[in-house]
Amino acid sequence: MRVAMIGAGYVGLVSGACFADFGHHVTCVDRDVDKISALKRGIMPIFEPGLAELVAGNLSEGRLDFSTTLAAPVAAADAVFIAVGTPSRRGDGHADLSYVYAAAREIAAALAGFTVVITKSTVPVGTGDEVERIIAQARPDADVAVVSNPEFLREGAAIQDFKHPDRIVVGSDDARAREVMTELYRPLYLNAAPILHTSRRSAELTKYAANAFLATKIALVNEIAELCEKVGADIQEVARGVGLDNRIGSKFLHAGPGFGGSCLPKDALALIKTAQDHDAPLRVVEAVVAVNDARKRGMGRKVAAALGGAVRGKIVAVLGLTFKPNTDDMREAPSIALITALQAMGADVRAYDPAGMEQAKTMLSNVAYSDSPYECAQGADALVIVTEWEQFRALDFDVLKRVMVRPVVVDLRNIYRPDDMARRGFVYARVGGTSNNP
Ligand SMILES: NC(=O)c1ccc[n+]([C@@H]2O[C@H](COP(=O)([O-])OP(=O)(O)OC[C@H]3O[C@@H](n4cnc5c(N)ncnc54)[C@H](O)[C@@H]3O)[C@@H](O)[C@H]2O)c1
Repeated sequence: MRVAMIGAGYVGLVSGACFADFGHHVTCVDRDVDKISALKRGIMPIFEPGLAELVAGNLSEGRLDFSTTLAAPVAAADAVFIAVGTPSRRGDGHADLSYVYAAAREIAAALAGFTVVITKSTVPVGTGDEVERIIAQARPDADVAVVSNPEFLREGAAIQDFKHPDRIVVGSDDARAREVMTELYRPLYLNAAPILHTSRRSAELTKYAANAFLATKIALVNEIAELCEKVGADIQEVARGVGLDNRIGSKFLHAGPGFGGSCLPKDALALIKTAQDHDAPLRVVEAVVAVNDARKRGMGRKVAAALGGAVRGKIVAVLGLTFKPNTDDMREAPSIALITALQAMGADVRAYDPAGMEQAKTMLSNVAYSDSPYECAQGADALVIVTEWEQFRALDFDVLKRVMVRPVVVDLRNIYRPDDMARRGFVYARVGGTSNNP
């Protein structure tokens, strides 16, 4: 099949490269000229394990190419995916659909023959109706079916997720469109990944409902972690006991500094707005957003507490800036709220991240960036682990103790054990459990 992927960001690039790997002919279109020219030279715009190899392989096999103009690829395509951004609209939290609608207008002008237009971007319920209306208005003659096919991949494991999804949700009542979608995903279907055919509106809402559910799990476990600290329980023991219940499951039960990223925060806000507009407010999700915002802000106080109550004039070394490991994505990362809070309290902040520092530099000011965890810790009063990159899981504490002014570690991901840290002579604070002060 011939596929045009409009938007070569996280989702468009990964999906496009994976569809090409399945054997389809894919053109990824992006209006960002620098991004496309870099991709043509094999330079990835994002850090995602395995992506460069996947793109290079399919480029050289001739199944994948890149373009800044969509007319020719759309005219030739059986399926056109819209994978542009849907950020929070400034001011009110609604999803900003201007990129989706602009793409729909451009696609309409180029359509030729029966084409399935698929929204892969996360869009509020009813957006497919509007995309259909835009296309019908611009091109009443077009033979087109508009489908919702939300994407559930996770950054950092995007290729694995795309190729081994728990499910593929296809929202359409059109038999011809269902056939095209089934053919596109056939290699996965053979691997027994279930294709769930739903109405378009159900598919659109499924994506938001799933993200709201995941966000709720994190917010709840973080609140329970707070309670653990007050009552002398341990969140890791509690979460394990809870997660072994099959009805709940153990994923997304890790206490931490609050959720961030390009999806959960903005999707929760957009869902809240949609629900309010339809007079069916989602109070649980509203509380989740408030809890998470407070959680992120509260992490600065946790660091201050580990340093005896104040950070003014102290040097704080932050390890991990991205919202999770194996990505360079800094969108809504908890590190931003933490560093801003520490600076407001008078701390001097240093930071190290294996992949996110370039992006961080555009978002945070007055941070000294380091080339390694140990350079970052040099002369620091406290070391804070914010993102659980693999390379932070086996730090050399003898070196850290030598280079730091005080042996204070605040572990916001609970990757170390309090008894170990006490044995090594560190003041160690973590989330959801007793800290030590040897
Ligand atoms: N990032 C994720 O992990 C993830 C996961 C699931 C779903 N989603 C959803 O997928 C969508 C895309 O997210 P992303 O993270 O890939 O965004 P992104 O910002 O990384 O990429 C969007 C790309 O679209 C391009 N673009 C915008 N308008 C265009 C147009 N008219 N023509 C051509 N290119 C255009 C931009 O230049 C950009 O490169 C969003 O709705 C997001 O919520 C993201």
